[in-house]
Amino acid sequence: MRLTLLLLFFTLNFVMFHSQARYHYHKKRKHSPPTSQISQPPSGAPAAGAPGPSNQPPKADPNVNPGVFDVRNFGAVGDGMTDDTEAFKAAWDAACQFESGVLLVPKSYSFMIQSTIFTGPCKGGLVFKVDGTVMPPDGPELWPSKNSKHQWLVFYRLDEMSLQGGGEINGRGEKWWNLPCKPHRGPNGSTLPGPCDSPVAIRFFMSNNLTVQGLKIIDSPQFNFRFDKCTNVHVESIHITAPALSPNTDGIHIENANNVRIYDSTISNGDDCVSIGSGCYDVDIRNITCGPGHGISIGSLGNHNSRACVSNITVRDSVIKNTDNGVRIKTWQGGSGAVSGITFDNLHMENVRNPIMIDQFYCLTKDCKNGSSAVLVSDIQYSGIKGTYDIRSPPMHFACSDSVPCTNITLSDVELLPAKGEMVLDPFCWNAYGDFEALTIPPVSCLLAGNPRSILENSLGLC
Ligand SMILES: *[C@@H]1O[C@H](CO)[C@@H](O)[C@H](O)[C@H]1NC(C)=O
Ligand SMILES: *[C@@H]1O[C@H](CO)[C@@H](O)[C@H](O)[C@H]1NC(C)=O
Ligand SMILES: *[C@@H]1O[C@H](CO)[C@@H](O)[C@H](O)[C@H]1NC(C)=O
Ligand SMILES: *[C@@H]1O[C@H](CO)[C@@H](O)[C@H](O)[C@H]1NC(C)=O
Ligand SMILES: *[C@@H]1O[C@H](CO)[C@@H](O)[C@H](O)[C@H]1NC(C)=O
Ligand SMILES: *[C@@H]1O[C@H](CO)[C@@H](O)[C@H](O)[C@H]1NC(C)=O
Repeated sequence: MRLTLLLLFFTLNFVMFHSQARYHYHKKRKHSPPTSQISQPPSGAPAAGAPGPSNQPPKADPNVNPGVFDVRNFGAVGDGMTDDTEAFKAAWDAACQFESGVLLVPKSYSFMIQSTIFTGPCKGGLVFKVDGTVMPPDGPELWPSKNSKHQWLVFYRLDEMSLQGGGEINGRGEKWWNLPCKPHRGPNGSTLPGPCDSPVAIRFFMSNNLTVQGLKIIDSPQFNFRFDKCTNVHVESIHITAPALSPNTDGIHIENANNVRIYDSTISNGDDCVSIGSGCYDVDIRNITCGPGHGISIGSLGNHNSRACVSNITVRDSVIKNTDNGVRIKTWQGGSGAVSGITFDNLHMENVRNPIMIDQFYCLTKDCKNGSSAVLVSDIQYSGIKGTYDIRSPPMHFACSDSVPCTNITLSDVELLPAKGEMVLDPFCWNAYGDFEALTIPPVSCLLAGNPRSILENSLGLC
């Protein structure tokens, strides 16, 4: 029934697009004051799911932009309080069927929408354009129990789609960060049992040829972006912020993704700036600024004895400041597979606690056992890594497993100085093979010479 109504509504809309734009323009002025709507009670908001032409706000000029589907034309109110989910779904369905259609979230409006899966396939060139603000219900108590608490905005099975605009996605994360079980790093640092799930703000799943550009994302309840089983992803000029103590607010998380480019963006949050999970390859990260937060991570990999493969990752021309880690590779004991072909080049560190780190003993509890296997870490290159570190830990830390050493770690042009205090003269190495091309600061004399990899390759099921 609802579907029929919506279809009817589209048809009507389409006809009216062409005949009555002027009429609607007048209605706009009467019903939708453009800026101060948040302070006013939403009077006579249309019932979601049953929009009719008679209570509709204006059309965009149809002659100029026939493929633009403004969510207000589908009944969205944008007063920051009304639930506009159904209007977004209807606008999506319309834009989806239009070659290079644009779902428009207009400037100066604030739309509250529930956890929603925007599903494809759609016609190519679809644009989800956020010029205004999009936000979820404010916290777990207002989250309908029938909705997933793992994700908020999901884009699923799309090819050639773009999420862009000059607007803002506000995750209203605070009440989620304060759930009792969250790992707070407060004075006591304790956690209590209690609800823990929090939604990822924006998830792309099983989608290809994606562009994300220009948006601001603030206060995500959990990861800001998660790209999962995606090929050809281009992220550019985005700005992510969440407080330094907000738990699990990773900026951009990718897994089983390849051909990913992340450029010209700034990320400050309470967890990893970018985290690269299992199954990622051909990833290029350039000109990003991270911090505060936990820096750029590959891993954690190999949890629960799993097999993980990550290769051909480059991070270059970036700044990492006031973070717990700079560039880190972390694997669990007992996994298999390999991380290889990783280049960290021309990175500027500012007051970073562990600028360069490989940790093959990654563990979140105290009772992790050492395994007889591990994810191989090899062909890792660090060049032009300069700046300052926090002397509470050594600036370089290569902790490799006893069963599977790290191989072919190369360092060149590394110059790390204390942000304040005395230089830490002993980088940490354990079972790490590699070489440096020129003297590093501080000097690393603990890398082992040679390359045991050929022996290893025979005994490991590599990727
Ligand atoms: C935190 O620790 C202080 C001092 O040990 C104690 O007085 C306080 O009750 C603790 N707070 C919580 C929430 O456990
Ligand atoms: C989209 O991605 C798929 C898979 O990577 C690729 O085969 C296809 O050519 C791409 N299409 C466009 C238009 O780039
Ligand atoms: C790097 O990214 C910033 C945005 O964070 C941008 O303003 C700047 O132009 C970019 N630099 C280059 C060389 O592209
Ligand atoms: C590594 O990834 C880049 C894209 O980031 C790609 O251009 C390049 O061909 C890849 N190299 C190999 C050896 O596959
Ligand atoms: C695991 O191995 C490392 C390196 O040999 C060692 O320092 C650590 O104590 C071991 N941990 C356990 C739980 O055996
Ligand atoms: C060492 O790793 C680099 C890339 O980091 C690679 O170009 C080189 O071929 C590797 N050397 C050996 C001996 O595998």
